[in-house]
Amino acid sequence: MALNGIPKAIMQVKPYVPGKTIEEVQRELGLEEVIKLGSNENPYGPFDCSIKAMQEELVNLNLYPDASFVEIKQLIGDYIGVPRDYVAVSHGAEGMLETLVRCFVEVGDQVIIPSVTYGLYSEISRVMGAEIKYVPLKSHTIDLSLISGAVNSKTKLIWLCNPNNPTGTIFTDDDFKQFMQSLPDRVWVVVDEAYAEFVETPEYANSVQAVLEGKQVVVVRTFSKAFGLAGARLGYALAAPEMISIIDKVSEPFNANRIGLAGAKAILSDRRDFERFRKQIISDRSDVAAKLKEMGLEVITSNANFIFFQTPWDGRLLAQNFLRLGIIVRPTADWGLPNGIRVTVGRPEENEKFIKALRKTIETMEKEV
Ligand SMILES: Cc1ncc(COP(=O)(O)O)c(C=O)c1O
Repeated sequence: MALNGIPKAIMQVKPYVPGKTIEEVQRELGLEEVIKLGSNENPYGPFDCSIKAMQEELVNLNLYPDASFVEIKQLIGDYIGVPRDYVAVSHGAEGMLETLVRCFVEVGDQVIIPSVTYGLYSEISRVMGAEIKYVPLKSHTIDLSLISGAVNSKTKLIWLCNPNNPTGTIFTDDDFKQFMQSLPDRVWVVVDEAYAEFVETPEYANSVQAVLEGKQVVVVRTFSKAFGLAGARLGYALAAPEMISIIDKVSEPFNANRIGLAGAKAILSDRRDFERFRKQIISDRSDVAAKLKEMGLEVITSNANFIFFQTPWDGRLLAQNFLRLGIIVRPTADWGLPNGIRVTVGRPEENEKFIKALRKTIETMEKEV
């Protein structure tokens, strides 16, 4: 069928390729047990208090949620340390990213995107008819001075991901401060901090402080990762109240669901499990990274709940081998890193199986060379 009338910008968008689901792999390969380490979900979630609250909320699903989202905004504000009028909610961080591109970008505007980062920024910018300028990373890290140098009179929006997906690296507060000072007034910066809770480094950029200082920054966060609620789809933005009013105006009216809100309110009100498993994931991240290094692989220090590493072999081939063993990981070839793999930090027994499978695969590959 000829799709007449669809804008060229939309026809040119490359679809976002999500990691494979457990169900897909079970169906395609006839496997019973499948371990998913491909989409950076939290293996310990949803936490008990969220499950209880979400179950209790089921009976209210005939009703729309409270469209002012006062309660959740207050709880998020308390958690982050900002007043609640600095908070807007969305269907996952993805929903917020989509709203933000509509807030800022018009046809012909330039947006700047690091060349290796979360794929959605390109897709949604292209749909808006933006001209995209890609800026390379340096040592697998977003290079803010290079980005600053790429700004021109058409630049409207800069997408930053901190920690960066898929590399897990961060930029520092000193670099971020300098970068913000270098930008002309009309340029907005979105800092996607989907993995912020897994950062332990004190030098991590304090983007919320930049918001409080009135800089042209919007911070995006999510309940999908450290809070264990990826399926409940709740994300949020932190920005100046004037900007929040615009975000709320552009968003659809009921852009969060009762189940997600109930789960998030519960875990924000009692953060003990969140904290316990956050620490567990951070500690297991070190263990997995150490084992990968022992195997002689190039491991990039991660600040997220995943690890990016490079091998001498084709990452897609490795990922295919893992699939046959019932383990889903994410090859990084689509990001222009053909030898790389991004693996989510799972439960200790899942990590163990992954490491064992990797050792076996490497042995086979070495024999074949
Ligand atoms: C950097 C980044 N931003 C946003 C998202 C989307 O998160 P959400 O599930 O909240 O839509 C992801 C998901 O993997 C991500 O890696």
